Amino acid sequence: MSPPHSDALVFFGATGDLAYKKIFPSLQAMLKRGHLNVPVIGVAKAGWNLDQLKVRAKDSLEKHGGLDPAAWEKLSGLLRYVDGDYADAATFEALRKELGSAQRPAHYLAIPPVLFGQVVEQLAKSGCAEEGSRVIVEKPFGANLESAKALNQILLNSFDETAIFRIDHYLGKSPVHNMTFFRFANSFLEPIWNREHVESVQITMAENFGVQGRGGFYDQTGAIRDVMQNHLFQVMVNVAMEPPVRTDSESMRDEKVKVLKAIPALEAGDIVRGQFRGYLAEAGVKPDSSVETFGALRLQVNSWRWRGVPFYIRAGKCLPVTCTEVTLRLRPPPTIYDAHGLTQNCIRLRISPDETIAFGANVMSPDETGPEATEIIASHRPDAKEMDAYERVLGDAMAGDATLFAREDYVEEAWRIVDPVLQVGTPVFAYEPGTWGPAEVYKQVSPPGGWQAPVMTD
Ligand code: BG6
Repeated sequence: MSPPHSDALVFFGATGDLAYKKIFPSLQAMLKRGHLNVPVIGVAKAGWNLDQLKVRAKDSLEKHGGLDPAAWEKLSGLLRYVDGDYADAATFEALRKELGSAQRPAHYLAIPPVLFGQVVEQLAKSGCAEEGSRVIVEKPFGANLESAKALNQILLNSFDETAIFRIDHYLGKSPVHNMTFFRFANSFLEPIWNREHVESVQITMAENFGVQGRGGFYDQTGAIRDVMQNHLFQVMVNVAMEPPVRTDSESMRDEKVKVLKAIPALEAGDIVRGQFRGYLAEAGVKPDSSVETFGALRLQVNSWRWRGVPFYIRAGKCLPVTCTEVTLRLRPPPTIYDAHGLTQNCIRLRISPDETIAFGANVMSPDETGPEATEIIASHRPDAKEMDAYERVLGDAMAGDATLFAREDYVEEAWRIVDPVLQVGTPVFAYEPGTWGPAEVYKQVSPPGGWQAPVMTD
């Protein structure tokens, strides 16, 4: 039996950046698809009224993807607003009143984690967290293992684990979703998807921009906590997980946790951190900050399938391109042809900006003088935008489907892996904007055959 659908969506932080950039456009998209017909209540402490929130929402839609007049009219009819301090019980009494007959609201905390405790406590006291209610929280979930556990305890005081939805919007991305589908909907991959045939795996998340005015947040976070411990670990886990025996959320999430359990905690030699020159001049960044804007990691997955196959992950701001891509390099064949000049076979899964699944292979060059590298393209979608990640995860949370959300044991395992090196505080090397990070990466954390620079075609 599927769980009951939430009968209202409450989002805290309604006047903030995330709401402006992601939540309003997702709500409009849900309406266009006919997936939203419950009250949507924004909460914030801005001294605003509903009309002001509507002006903001309309502006958000115009700037982020375009306003659809029919959907906007419906959204405008569903929108409600509660203004008030999160420390004030009256704010939550007003919210309970605004919820009217709704008994199973989904509360989306699009606010800084320091406020979570206060908000969930007030939700419980005011009768807004009764059975059937849900809470949706953003990543990063905690800043280390200890704070993640503490944060979870705060949520568990008012909500059951099955009612807690920890967002990692990467899981809502269609190409990330498609990775598991592609692996487990085909039979030809399985014989090669293991240590016998795969030599190494590398994942690159490159962004050709800096911290974009989020210096204050970023300087508390850094690349490892911002995108590696969460987004890129999820991508890695999709590559490494065993075939789940069922598609229900727990069967899927059990397999994901198992991958993390097989990974030993990182040591100092497994990581290189970098900071782009100019970062220290960003607003909100401490003048002597040693926060990394680039990270490269080497992980071992000590499972039956993967033991001995190194996994490499790198991510950074101000790199040469914006692209997220996974490459599995296959072991060389025992070829009768001169191996010199042959390109190593690989499987390439690009997540953005386009969605591509391709196999790198060798054919003979047209003039028959030697090998020519080619790619067998299984799928190429130049603009993989059919459903926005936030639309998918918000819709799933309201429907009570937890498959694309991080379970607590998963989050804790992920912290277990990165925590020790974060505590040690390995050196941070400077790199020039527009380069692939500090030179130390090539000496210390580089896959056999080197890092693969994404080739931008579209
Ligand atoms: C966010 C990070 O979670 O993901 C950002 O905080 C990053 O720093 C962003 O830029 C990347 O997500 P997307 O969907 O834009 O690739």
